[in-house]
Amino acid sequence: MNVISTQIGQPVPRIDGVAKVTGQAKYAAEPHPPGMLYGVIVNSPIARGRIDTIHDAAARDVAGVVDIMTHLNRPHTALFEKAYVDGLGVPGAPYRPLHDGTIHFNGQPVAVVFAETFEAAREAAMLVRVDYERWPHNADFDVALHQKYMPSRTRSNYVPPKPRGNAAEAYALSAVRVEGRYHLAPEHHNPMEMHATTVIMEDDGTFTVWDKTQGPQAVQAYLASALSLSKDQVRVRNPYVGGAFGSGLRALHNVFLATLGAKMLRRPVRVTLTRPQMFTHVFRPEAVMDIALGACRDGTLQSMIVEGVTDTSRFEHNMENIVIWGLINYRCPNAMADYRIAPRDTYTSSDMRAPGAATGVNLLEMAIDEMAYACGMDPLAFRLHNYSDIDAMHDMPLTSKALREAMVQGAQHFGWHDRTMAPGSMRDGRERIGWGMATGIWDAMFSPTSARARLGRDGRLHIATAASDIGTGTYTILAQTAAEAFGMPLDRIDIELGDSTLPECPTEGGSWTAASAGAAVWLACDSLRARLFTALAGSANAPPWVKQGDMTLSGGALHGVNGNDADCLSLTDALSLLGLDGLEAEEAAKPGLRGKISQMRKARFTHSAVFCEVRVDHDLGTIRVTRLVNAVAAGRIMNPKTAASQIRGAMVMATGMALHEESLMDERVGRFMNHNFAEYHIPAHADIPDMDVLFMDEHDDEVSPLGVKGVGEIGMCGTAAAIANAIFHATGQRHRNLPIMPGA
Ligand code: MOS
Repeated sequence: MNVISTQIGQPVPRIDGVAKVTGQAKYAAEPHPPGMLYGVIVNSPIARGRIDTIHDAAARDVAGVVDIMTHLNRPHTALFEKAYVDGLGVPGAPYRPLHDGTIHFNGQPVAVVFAETFEAAREAAMLVRVDYERWPHNADFDVALHQKYMPSRTRSNYVPPKPRGNAAEAYALSAVRVEGRYHLAPEHHNPMEMHATTVIMEDDGTFTVWDKTQGPQAVQAYLASALSLSKDQVRVRNPYVGGAFGSGLRALHNVFLATLGAKMLRRPVRVTLTRPQMFTHVFRPEAVMDIALGACRDGTLQSMIVEGVTDTSRFEHNMENIVIWGLINYRCPNAMADYRIAPRDTYTSSDMRAPGAATGVNLLEMAIDEMAYACGMDPLAFRLHNYSDIDAMHDMPLTSKALREAMVQGAQHFGWHDRTMAPGSMRDGRERIGWGMATGIWDAMFSPTSARARLGRDGRLHIATAASDIGTGTYTILAQTAAEAFGMPLDRIDIELGDSTLPECPTEGGSWTAASAGAAVWLACDSLRARLFTALAGSANAPPWVKQGDMTLSGGALHGVNGNDADCLSLTDALSLLGLDGLEAEEAAKPGLRGKISQMRKARFTHSAVFCEVRVDHDLGTIRVTRLVNAVAAGRIMNPKTAASQIRGAMVMATGMALHEESLMDERVGRFMNHNFAEYHIPAHADIPDMDVLFMDEHDDEVSPLGVKGVGEIGMCGTAAAIANAIFHATGQRHRNLPIMPGA
């Protein structure tokens, strides 16, 4: 698509910002239909076993309690006959809430109390007593490692790649070698908005469901399947999502239990998870990576061996892409990777912002830093020396890779060249200063997406697609896209998202929404304008310049191209001339359709270079991240303001990964114990006083129709490693476990 940019690329403030800060934006737990009941979930305190007896008499006596739903009295639905495997697919046997009395993990819902008030439901939930038959369990990752396996069914890109050269031999022959076990602690999702569902069952047996999800159509498909309904009997809405980044990819138990409760009681129901309940379900897997790197004395990589293991549940095979990233990104003649998963008796680990790469890139980039030092080379120079212009693992060309520019410009912006190489050599009073860097890589994906554009008699352009804006700025960038594609002022555009009835859009994730939904909106607007022009050309009443098609659509009106100011027609007048109330067009953006996407022949990635300054207190060992610079090559940036916010937010999240966030398992009971903000620490923007984001000028007309790669996840990749590497530079101590705690 050949376009002259007017609106895409501008730092437009969020169009949904005012609605959010004034409370007009409604989240999943905010609709309050008349007669609504509050549902509070009772969780299993054991990790494995069977329910013996449920004692709920005391709970039922609480004033306001309407009913208590368990596996013994819940309505029967299709889900209890056949499990539904969700679209984003974790192979295995998905957990079915209240299916039977078997306990698979600590925190498993065993009952839901429904009451007229939240307080009554909560009080009663605490009074439900359950006797269990306890079975032995294992929740210890180190024990699970002994049972690591490769599942027979998984996505092909999770299967370790074919080895290149002979990595073991090359490693043995290398003059410089680095070898170690790197570890990432599990970490939990803590979005502002907790998982919640509000369900209204209509008199005709259809459901309207407000859910905190990244995919309204995925939840619609799940509920329709679970309840044996057709899709048009279930409407799922999520117009606003208070953060998600993977926690809302799968339909969680709250949405099924709330819907089941509404069906059982024939009343509207709301179920909200508490913060501690969030810690039973949505976590990034614990990971170990055994990494061995070999190089020549001049710093030329000769061998990379990367073996990873992450945890999964006993009933599903959750896998991530953790071992491949370095093999793609570095030139190295001999490389090999292996990857397994290790089962334990917990809920299934799941996706969390840049799943796989956040783990694999950060741990590998810590090893790369060790190798640079082992070769006596500056870490930036080492990476430039081993730079690959292709996808080195698949030996495939790339649509683009402006990582070299990112490294050079990021270093310049940071002032990297003033760095002294020796650890501990930079000081300021009591503080040791450390400067570290790392690079990042993440997929640049595209998913088929549809959008509808409708011009109304009010002269407004209405855009609709079932995308979710999880807080990333999707409303805003789609409005900008429509403004440019149709020639419409931003304030005459309405964007409707987050509703399963809208044109098909895949679940928001993988950083593909900007590229995919953006392309769909562009095509729909393009098509609508063509339709309008064609209709006008055939209209008897239109002025000659319109009929002849000598016109453009700009500023929200039709203008003659011959320079005559009088040749102007408003869109409202154009529609009335046609005798129409409105005109609409719907289009689907697919790889290869009207966009020049080379889906197969070239590999597509986003890249970044991250530079970090830490200050470590000489006496206390406390660590502060004082400066971060992230230079990002992500193709076309649709909105530098919202895009930079994505990178900054991810850098804060990665600071948590590097220094604070760690879900601690009590193996005896199989539960993550620090399930609240008093004991699980997440950083805020104010913890990092100075964060700069640079975007490279990366032109890529193959990666997606609009040249967009997406920025939701790349900010996680490399940042934690840059922090760890800076800590080494400050202190001379290598840490191979994340998070790095003072005194560790
Ligand atoms: Mo992201 S983990 O694909 O929401």
